[in-house]
Formats: sequence, C-alpha cells, structure tokens
Amino acid sequence: MKSLELVNIRKVYGDAVAVSDMNMTISQGELVSLLGPSGCGKTTTLRMVAGFIAPTAGSVLINGTDVTHLAPYDRNTALVFQSYALFPHMTVAQNVAFGLEMRKVGRAEREAQSLEALKRVRLDHLSDRYPRQLSGGQQQRVALARGLVLNPAVFLLDEPLSNLEAKLRGEVRSEIRSLQQSLELTTLMVTHDQEEALTMSDRLVLMEAGGVRQAGTAQDLYERPADAFVADFVGRSNVIEGGAEEAGFRTACGTLLPPAASGEAGARFYAIRPEKISIVRDGEGVEGALREILYLGAQTEYTVMLGQTPVTVIAATPGPDDALAGMRSGEAVRLRWSSADARLLNA
Ligand SMILES: Nc1ncnc2c1ncn2[C@@H]1O[C@H](COP(=O)(O)OP(=O)(O)O)[C@@H](O)[C@H]1O
Ligand SMILES: [Mg+2]
Repeated sequence: MKSLELVNIRKVYGDAVAVSDMNMTISQGELVSLLGPSGCGKTTTLRMVAGFIAPTAGSVLINGTDVTHLAPYDRNTALVFQSYALFPHMTVAQNVAFGLEMRKVGRAEREAQSLEALKRVRLDHLSDRYPRQLSGGQQQRVALARGLVLNPAVFLLDEPLSNLEAKLRGEVRSEIRSLQQSLELTTLMVTHDQEEALTMSDRLVLMEAGGVRQAGTAQDLYERPADAFVADFVGRSNVIEGGAEEAGFRTACGTLLPPAASGEAGARFYAIRPEKISIVRDGEGVEGALREILYLGAQTEYTVMLGQTPVTVIAATPGPDDALAGMRSGEAVRLRWSSADARLLNA
C-alpha cells in the first residue's frame, strides 16, 4: 500500500512557481529524501504534506485518503524542524506529551507514551530538564520523540541535522535511520546535503527549480544520473562540454574515449567521476599538466589541466614506494579511465 502520494502538486506565489506539478509516492516504512539546492521547493513540498501550506493545485493522499483539505492536526503527520522548536517553558516530558494533550489523551496514558518515546531516543533520564539545559543533539532528540509519540502515518523531517556540528550530525543521522527502520516509519526528509541523503534514504528525489530532476535509489542517481545537473549534484563529477563524433567525444581538450553505454542523442556533456580516473606518469592516457595536489589523509585530490579544462582526480594517497610518490605541481601526467565509467549527458 502506498502511504504517501503526491499527485500533480503545485504551489505558486504570485507569478513565482515554488513547486511545479510534482508526483511522488512513498511506500509504508520507506524513507525518501527530497534533495536539492536551496530554494528548489523542498520545504514548500514538505509543508504541503503537513498541511501548513495549501497547494495551488494537486492532491496529497495519506494511506489512500485525500487529505489535501484537512487541517494539519487531522492528517496524522508529525513534522520535525531543523530549529527543534521546543517550548522553552516546558520540561522535556511536557514537550513530548504536548501533542497527545492536544489529542485529548488522558494524563496517565500521556505520561506512559511520552516516557516510551523518550526511551526510544535514550533521554528518559532527562525528562524533568528544560530545553535550555540540554545540548543541541539532545534537543533534537527531544524533537524527534515529540514526533514519534504521535505514532504518525507519515513522519516529516525538514533538515533535521543542519543545526548540529559535524560529529553529532553523524550520530543523530544513524539514530534517526535506525529508529525509522525499527518502527517502520514512513518518512519524508528534506535535505540539501547529498551525503545525508545518500546514506539515510531508501530512495531520493532530486529537485531543481520546483521540479523533479530524477528519483531513484542512491545507486541509480550516482551511477546512472539522468543529466549533468544530477551528475554534479550527487557526488562529484567532471562534466566536460563538447559533442559526440564518430571517433569519440570532441572537446576543447581533445577527443575523449567514447562511453561504452550509448548516451542521449545529441548529448553535450561528457561526465566522469573523479574516483574513476587514474593518474599515471607515462604510458597511455590523455595528456595533461598537474596543477594542484590536495592531501586529504587517506585520499589525495589532484587537479589536472587538460588544456584549459580542469579535471579532478581522487585516488588513494600513494605510499612512499608508490609510482606516484613525490608528484609535483607542474608535472606532465596522463589520465586514464574506462569507457564503462564515462557517460554522455544533456544539460
Ligand atoms: N511564502 C512565500 N512567498 C513567496 N515565495 C516563497 C514563499 N515561500 C517560499 N517561496 C519561494 O519558493 C521557492 C521554494 O522555497 P522553499 O520550498 O523554501 O525551498 P527549499 O526548502 O528547497 O530551500 C523559493 O524560491 C522561495 O523563495
Ligand atoms: Mg528548506
């Protein structure tokens, strides 16, 4: 059964289209991320699901029921914001119980359910504290508990990790994902962070300018990007402009090996991931000049100029006896890749 369905959903502000005719379904227990650059319509979409924004056209269905015209409290969704939005004058337990109180759940039941939700996020020992007495990560877990306690049909998360520092972000990320999986929560998460989306989601919906560019699993988007925008937004990609010819793909930096898979007819871009390119000192390959070496610890990132075109290569940092040890900026190098890893894309 489909738990959440958006049918031709659209939102227009004056003459600006924030979301244009979007279609999407999420199955029971699935986590789907809405990913895309700032301003592409992610929050607007999420808030139309929650009921805080009325769509200009289209409908929202939850478990098969049309909820487009229902108030937020009648939709059985729970929304968690990046800013946590906890009530400062209420304790942790009171914050978590608040939604149940609104639903007229009796006191004893409220307390039992809130405690249960707090246990799930491992904060039951802090139930008498006030939000200001908690760390950012703890506050975000209270916000999660406040959503979980409602046992929502659809759980909505708007950039839930973006206020947390890097290390905490990783922890809360795993916590959200394992809760979501163990409770089989149908979840729609908004993020602009591709790593977050790739690691947490069953499926991703990549948006741009109010529309869907591509939807699929992390592997679909990473390995089979539909266009140059997707290739560049999901992971990193070298995207080189040119045109396909009999002999290969002609670019300002020479004719490149044609991709094994036939791309779109008339494709104008050649895409190759940085980690799919090997850099060598001599032998076969496209000639270039090494411009920059960025040591990243386990990996090293190289910028190689093919004529005027910079190409990024990411490779394991060479050991002292490695052929690549002691490379210097300015050196002539050659780049090689397999035609199986290259793709032809449109803009
Ligand atoms: N209340 C509003 N009035 C007018 N324009 C809005 C309003 N809310 C959002 N927008 C516009 O709609 C577009 C999508 O916004 P939003 O959904 O917040 O993007 P995202 O969450 O992807 O960053 C943006 O161009 C934004 O400026
Ligand atoms: Mg947003």
